[in-house]
Amino acid sequence: MALWRTRDLHEDDLESVIRLWDDPSTAGAAAAFGLLELISAARDSQPAVVAVVGDQIVGSIVSMIDRDHAWVMRISLAADWRNKGVGSALLEALERRLDDRGVHRISCLLSSDAEVGAIALEHRGFEVRTGMRLYEKVSGAGHSDLGVLSQLGGRMLRPGLWESLGGMKAEKELIERRVILPLANTEVADRLGVVPPAGIVLFGPPGTGKTSFAKGIASRLGWPFVELFPSRLGASTPGGLATALRESFELIAELDNVVVFIDEVEEIASMRAGGAQSAATGVTNEMLKLIPRFREQEGRLLVCATNSIRDLDSAFLRHGRFDYVLPVGPPDAEARAAIWERYLATMPHDAVDLDAVVAASDMFTPADIEFAARRTAQAVFEGAVLDDRPEVATTEVILRAIERTRPTLSARICECFDDDITEFARL
Ligand SMILES: Nc1ncnc2c1ncn2[C@@H]1O[C@H](COP(=O)(O)OP(=O)(O)OP(=O)(O)O)[C@@H](O)[C@H]1O
Ligand SMILES: [Mg+2]
Repeated sequence: MALWRTRDLHEDDLESVIRLWDDPSTAGAAAAFGLLELISAARDSQPAVVAVVGDQIVGSIVSMIDRDHAWVMRISLAADWRNKGVGSALLEALERRLDDRGVHRISCLLSSDAEVGAIALEHRGFEVRTGMRLYEKVSGAGHSDLGVLSQLGGRMLRPGLWESLGGMKAEKELIERRVILPLANTEVADRLGVVPPAGIVLFGPPGTGKTSFAKGIASRLGWPFVELFPSRLGASTPGGLATALRESFELIAELDNVVVFIDEVEEIASMRAGGAQSAATGVTNEMLKLIPRFREQEGRLLVCATNSIRDLDSAFLRHGRFDYVLPVGPPDAEARAAIWERYLATMPHDAVDLDAVVAASDMFTPADIEFAARRTAQAVFEGAVLDDRPEVATTEVILRAIERTRPTLSARICECFDDDITEFARL
């Protein structure tokens, strides 16, 4: 059996740990603490421990301290790792940390149908207190965030996504100053008469990182991320896309903070082709009505992305609906280097001449780089299996893979993009 060990939960673990927390068999139907509360406890360095096998997380325990009393908020174990002593080990490790912080009493509220935790608690000498009931009063919107979020298919993204975007200095700096700073420092902004943005449009050729930027903003702000997919929404609601959008925005209004992302927004805000009564016009009009209402609430940002800014309805882009219309251009050399490094980390390679690789992949989008990297791995694999060649990627193999990959970008696409910047960008 593979060996597990326990260690403190780090911010980087959040994404995998959230998957464990999300499993209803660990929390039961009536979890006392919601996902957002668990995330904020873990972020606040309240003691939290994970069990790992290799680099895979198989269990976690999260707590919250109030003076000398601590609450175990959630004990979760991956399905394959139950009844193996992992829960008790997690609890023991947590107890040690709580002891160091002066805690004398530890409580844990388990849902009666939770499949995880009870054995570990009993094993560690916890006693069941009978004759108690949990009373609760939920008021305001914030408490239901988690339910609303899961209905919308939204989630918390892991911290560090913004920082992991390589290169693209100009774009990053612009978004950092205009968007992130005012939203993260509302008090200073308010004092100085700066109104934080509520809506931005990102435009640029395919694969330049628009989606990554939107996720990076949410991760940076520590706000949940909700992506609306026009094509899915329209198909899944009897009233069609306009109704689905209205219903989604009603749910979104219940969240305290949120980044809402709509990719390929031209699908819902295209030029009013097809006459005043067409379905497309109805959708565009609905969206035009929804945006002002969305903007009235604080603590939220709508990010729309498009490859074809020219096709958007001009009323949609008007001042007052979107604060900024920002170009996200082809990845520069630094961004390409960062993306290459990410893919090279997944295969054995010798000292690669990164400058040569980056120069050869001019006009490549991140998606093209991914494709060329896959091709590299395949070539090394075939060489090793069929011709007994060494199992490492060399600069030469990479350059050959690049040569055989057709770049998505071209001088013409870049020219059109420059024209779009002149005509549509609003910085
Ligand atoms: N600056 C960057 N640094 C590192 N990786 C990046 C960067 N930009 C994009 N990527 C990676 O490249 C891939 C494509 O990026 P993304 O999906 O954000 O592009 P996009 O502009 O939204 O594309 P599309 O127009 O097709 O929707 C993703 O895997 C992303 O992680
Ligand atoms: Mg995208």
